[in-house]
Amino acid sequence: MEKDKEALIAEIRRLKQERDAAIMAHYYTDGDIQDIADVVGDSLALAQKARTLSNKVIVLCGVHFMGETAKILCPDKTVLVPDMEAGCSLADSCPADEFEAFVKAHPGHTVVSYVNTSAAVKALTDVVVTSSNARKIVDALPRDEKIIFGPDRNLGNYINSETGRQMLLWDGACHVHEQFSLQAIIDLKKQHPGARLLVHPECKKAVTLLADHVGSTASLLDYARNSDATEFIVATESGILHKMRQLCPGKSFIPAPPEEAGCACNNCSYMKLNTLGKLRDCLRDMSPAIEVDPEIARKAIRPIDRMLELSK
Ligand code: 13P
Ligand code: SF4
Repeated sequence: MEKDKEALIAEIRRLKQERDAAIMAHYYTDGDIQDIADVVGDSLALAQKARTLSNKVIVLCGVHFMGETAKILCPDKTVLVPDMEAGCSLADSCPADEFEAFVKAHPGHTVVSYVNTSAAVKALTDVVVTSSNARKIVDALPRDEKIIFGPDRNLGNYINSETGRQMLLWDGACHVHEQFSLQAIIDLKKQHPGARLLVHPECKKAVTLLADHVGSTASLLDYARNSDATEFIVATESGILHKMRQLCPGKSFIPAPPEEAGCACNNCSYMKLNTLGKLRDCLRDMSPAIEVDPEIARKAIRPIDRMLELSK
């Protein structure tokens, strides 16, 4: 390891102790961030574990909505993020005022929102879901319940097809997951006939139809660990490959190709804003910290708690 990086990591460890901080990281962050984190997980695990931590401070290395969720769940903790600009194209595809008008235009519906939303959208929601528990939670709702699902049209379509529901979908999407090339995946499967295709449900339907396994990042990781196969094509953000390679030595993981040859489109540019340098700076400065409007937090905690209850 380079000297500068070693010194930076030592400084982060020292500041972490001093501040009584826990570092939480999503699987899409850089390997260096995952390796220094106390907790690495998918969106559900990060939400579940935030509340169980005894530390005074959480540094959430992920994207803004993950920090917001941690702050809503742990209002007495300071929740820091290395970069306030780490947003999410999917959350951005669902402005709260437009979503509120959509909900009002369809009275009598239960509102199910993906965790990839702002706190203001969660405040308009009856139950939050992640890609880990969306199917289970939708299945738990009465069969005749009319449901609005937002904001991801791909995850919504996938849950509709798995559950036989006809949820009304908000028309949002993630720019990373929408760009995988079906034709390039078909070509790759021909070159690697023994490889299993692992797909996140934010991908387009045509890609999920080809998959050997569709699931959240944690579920894709579990499948790879437990499978007899030794080769996998991975259609989700590239950060997960770090953990897959770490936990499955001897197996090989091939990133699914994007539409545009040669682009790094399977990197979430927001997730990659989390760097060791910014992680050190936020622990040193105790900033930037996530704040949530108390009235929004009061409304948003209910659907998040309902999710955590239904996920048990
Ligand atoms: P997970 O629920 O699998 O963590 O996915 C989060 C996410 O942002 C996917 O793009
Ligand atoms: Fe949002 Fe997509 Fe990045 Fe996930 S990969 S955080 S959905 S922009």
